[in-house]
Amino acid sequence: MKTICYFRATNYRILTDIIQLLPDNIANQIAAGEVIQRPASAVKELLENAVDAGADQIRLLVNDAGKALIQVIDNGKGMSETDARMAFERHATSKIKNIDDLFHIKTMGFRGEALASIAAVAQVELKTKREEDETGVSIEIENSVVKKQEPVAAVTGSSIAMKNLFFNVPARRNFLKSNAAELRHIVDEFIRVAMAFPEIFFSMSSNGQEVFHLEKGTLKQRIVQILGNNYNAKLVSVQEQTDYMNIFGFVGKPETAKKTRGDQYFFVNNRFIKSAYLNHAVMNAFDEMIAKDSYPMYALFIDLNPAHLDINVHPTKQEIKFEDEKIVYAFVQSAVKHALAQFSITPTLDFELDASIQNLEAVSKPLTEERRSSAASSPLYQTFSQKNQAHFIENKSELKHWKEFYGTPVDDKLQASNFKPQTSIHEQHVHSSDLLQIHNTYIVVQNDQGYLLIHQQNAHERILYEKFLYATEGKAIATQQSLFPAAIELSAADAVILNELIPDLQLLGYQLEPFGNNTFVVQGTPADVEQGNEKMAIEKMLEQFKHFSADLKYSKREKLFRSLARQQAIKGGTSLTQKEMKILVADLFICDTPNITPNGKPTYTTFKKNELDKMFGR
Ligand SMILES: Nc1ncnc2c1ncn2[C@@H]1O[C@H](COP(=O)(O)OP(=O)(O)OP(=O)(O)O)[C@@H](O)[C@H]1O
Ligand SMILES: [Mg+2]
Repeated sequence: MKTICYFRATNYRILTDIIQLLPDNIANQIAAGEVIQRPASAVKELLENAVDAGADQIRLLVNDAGKALIQVIDNGKGMSETDARMAFERHATSKIKNIDDLFHIKTMGFRGEALASIAAVAQVELKTKREEDETGVSIEIENSVVKKQEPVAAVTGSSIAMKNLFFNVPARRNFLKSNAAELRHIVDEFIRVAMAFPEIFFSMSSNGQEVFHLEKGTLKQRIVQILGNNYNAKLVSVQEQTDYMNIFGFVGKPETAKKTRGDQYFFVNNRFIKSAYLNHAVMNAFDEMIAKDSYPMYALFIDLNPAHLDINVHPTKQEIKFEDEKIVYAFVQSAVKHALAQFSITPTLDFELDASIQNLEAVSKPLTEERRSSAASSPLYQTFSQKNQAHFIENKSELKHWKEFYGTPVDDKLQASNFKPQTSIHEQHVHSSDLLQIHNTYIVVQNDQGYLLIHQQNAHERILYEKFLYATEGKAIATQQSLFPAAIELSAADAVILNELIPDLQLLGYQLEPFGNNTFVVQGTPADVEQGNEKMAIEKMLEQFKHFSADLKYSKREKLFRSLARQQAIKGGTSLTQKEMKILVADLFICDTPNITPNGKPTYTTFKKNELDKMFGR
């Protein structure tokens, strides 16, 4: 009896006591997940360690967007043999000693978790040597276990290479995005660190190709090196000092504001942070100076006593808590306002730029009838009408939607521009009545049942989008070779994106060749795109592309089509000739989905005659 009870009790206990300690390597892998989510997080950690080590030269090498290799080489202070071993232990740090230190942090790191996390999810090789040591040490670690340790000849500094990230955590490896996407995250992190330390030389290579080469310099030089020459002479200096906090850095002049949020950087005590709240403060300062849907560039550095901050609220340290965030908000806003006010009341400081604007005909001469008509023959006008005459949508043989909306009888000879390019048939066959353009934005089209109000920009966006779609499915859009190939210099981050897009752009008629150093040469453009504006067209397309990039649900190609359609669509406010309107309307109704833009905005709305009659009691 007793024995049975004993067994029962034990069995019972075995079944209920279910908690076990995880083996170390699994615990480490799980903990690592907080710090190392993707290759870019490892890049951030390694770069920050190099900065903390006092290096003034830091090189980053990645292969396969960091999935195969991430290596950071610095000329910092290096580590002793024992420290090199210790560095990979969890909670091992040289940067803080007690809890109080947490509130006086001057270094980027302090948790002692980064290297332990990296060693848990990759194969790591560290080589390091201090100035005072004859020889250095080399350590190889895999799965948190030291595989090899030996003395090596080395220069002062450290090199940490991590290979095959997540080789032992397949679920995480599968979760990684395309190389293009991961590389962009890496570039983002690289830029954030490099921007904060212009006094350090940084370089970055991807698959053996140097993507960034950032010589030491001033913050202004670093911003231009990173974000591109466009910002040269377009930066307004922000600088205010108080006992509580200082702010310094630059904001872009209002005219450099973009449609995407990209070039916005806040640093607190040299640490890049994300803060929607402080972003709002800057946007407020720009107030009426920029369009509502555009974003100014800024790189602002806030310095304040670390005692007034808590950095330890998020594993990646990119979110922080201010003791009094309202003060910081007010301070940022007034500092930026002040800077902008100074810039706009002393515009002569930019006399070079202003003189060139003043001399432009458009500014210096009144708008005569003659100039008005020469504007009508401008490239923009022509691009628009030519564009619509050179469609290649040959696999579409019906005028399906056309019939629906024009009602019966449909003029059988009615043809959209796609079918007989280069003719002016539309003038003869589209409803004989003239179309009406109102507000230079809408086109009114009458049909049997009432009338349609077409939004010209939305409609053209749909037309272009389907044109691109069909161009890549069927016949590629013809290219015209540029007589004078234009060179385009981009920021390194944009160059990474453009490189990825080259094959698709080719199908759409753009011939681009990378020329090294973030420069591309435009050898040809689509036959129906006016030459001479290639540079702006490509820059705008990249802007739009980045705008869509946050949207993960679209493929790269889809984003490209949407970007190009948006960028090339005829804008509201543009006056159209009868011929242009008729081509636009005809082209719209041979689209597969004529009623909405690729983003789902309506392209037209219908007003039925019988409903109108009802409204008027008839
Ligand atoms: N490149 C380097 N040069 C010299 N010492 C380094 C380097 N990288 C790491 N260390 C040493 O190894 C220790 C552990 O680095 P690790 O990144 O894991 O932690 P941490 O930087 O202290 O804190 P955090 O986890 O917040 O980054 C550091 O405190 C530093 O002493
Ligand atoms: Mg660290």
